Amino acid sequence: MEKVSADAILRGIRTLVNPAACAGRFDAVATTERAAVAFDAGIVTWAGPESDLGSCVRMRPGARRIDAAGLTAMPGLVECHTHAIFEGTRVDDFERRSRGETYSDIARKGGGILSTVRATRTASRLALKNSGRERLSRFLSRGVTTVEIKSGYGLDTATELKILATARQLGREHPVTVITTFLGAHTVPPEFMGGRRGYLRLVIDEMLPAVARRRLARYCDVFCDETAFSAAEAREILVAAAALGLKAKVHADQLSAGGGAELAAEVGAVSADHLEHVSDNGVRAMRKAGVTAVLLPAAAIFIGSQARAPARKMIDAGLRVAVSTDFNPGSSNTQDLALAGTLACSMLKMTPAEAFAGITINAAAALGLEKVCGSVEPGKWGDVTLIDAPDWRDIFYRMGENLVRMVIKKGGPTAFFGR
Ligand code: NIG
Ligand code: FE
Repeated sequence: MEKVSADAILRGIRTLVNPAACAGRFDAVATTERAAVAFDAGIVTWAGPESDLGSCVRMRPGARRIDAAGLTAMPGLVECHTHAIFEGTRVDDFERRSRGETYSDIARKGGGILSTVRATRTASRLALKNSGRERLSRFLSRGVTTVEIKSGYGLDTATELKILATARQLGREHPVTVITTFLGAHTVPPEFMGGRRGYLRLVIDEMLPAVARRRLARYCDVFCDETAFSAAEAREILVAAAALGLKAKVHADQLSAGGGAELAAEVGAVSADHLEHVSDNGVRAMRKAGVTAVLLPAAAIFIGSQARAPARKMIDAGLRVAVSTDFNPGSSNTQDLALAGTLACSMLKMTPAEAFAGITINAAAALGLEKVCGSVEPGKWGDVTLIDAPDWRDIFYRMGENLVRMVIKKGGPTAFFGR
């Protein structure tokens, strides 16, 4: 057998863990004991038992050797739904909910998303970039190597472009890969209250073309909810986005059933996200259209909602299910993707293997990236996260603990964290 080349190898792995599908279901993982991984030009060229390394891999002169020192290795984690570029705090909303107001009450009274919009509009690009960079580093320290970031705290053309351009720039400068999503239709801004058609026109006629022209986003998302946009309004936006080459994502059926999942299926969205109130018909439509479900249990918990996305129903129907934090200042102020996985297991009754697929290969699918990340295998990006735990399930079981000790991004040791 011809040997593959490597300009870097990672050896000394206790166990290499990958998500594994059996008949389209991810209720298992594939493990290799005492494993090694070879990289060339940032791409995985080989992964297997370390004892086979010599017969399978030819090291280039000067190749780098990285010692995993007995850590457990897994794919770099994929965070497929965040609102990570924003300014200001929503700690007041947090307290108001503790005193009995709901997320929707606060939104209707002009708090919620709009309070973050006020702070983000006045923030300088530098301030946004600095806080954004810190947040990317925090994701990296939690083992995340790819992050999706949505706009949606500008709601005017200049600020929406400022957010997306900042996210794009951070993606070029930071080791973490950034995928951007335009979410101009997050809510109607104050200057268009009483004239929401005007805002829709602004999104469709001005913002979307400006975003597309500058190639600032891969996806277009819409918050489809009674406090935000109806399914009919969301359809108009997503159809216009598609004509400009932006694929759809939908914040669907989060606070109430609003036809978001059905719409996601109708427009061929890559994902429908939240889904606490999804209908059976919505699940069926998503399955037929191949829409990935993104579940965000930390958001439901953080806003104090009792509603739970019917994860089992979706998995049993054959949907791909991803899990994400929904990191944002209002409804889910956490960057702990493993914790989202813990909640997926304990609250949504996903098995650890399903939650693991949810933060790796299925999260990659929710970003259209399943061919390049989400598992450690030849041809994919050399993104590996190493945790200090004997059992891979510890990543969820040890709730809220950060077990990540080393992160490899595109074949290079990118970050080490103390043991
Ligand atoms: O995903 N649902 C709408 N958007 C966010 C919340 C954003 C915010 O409250 O600032 C979410 O939960
Ligand atoms: Fe969200």
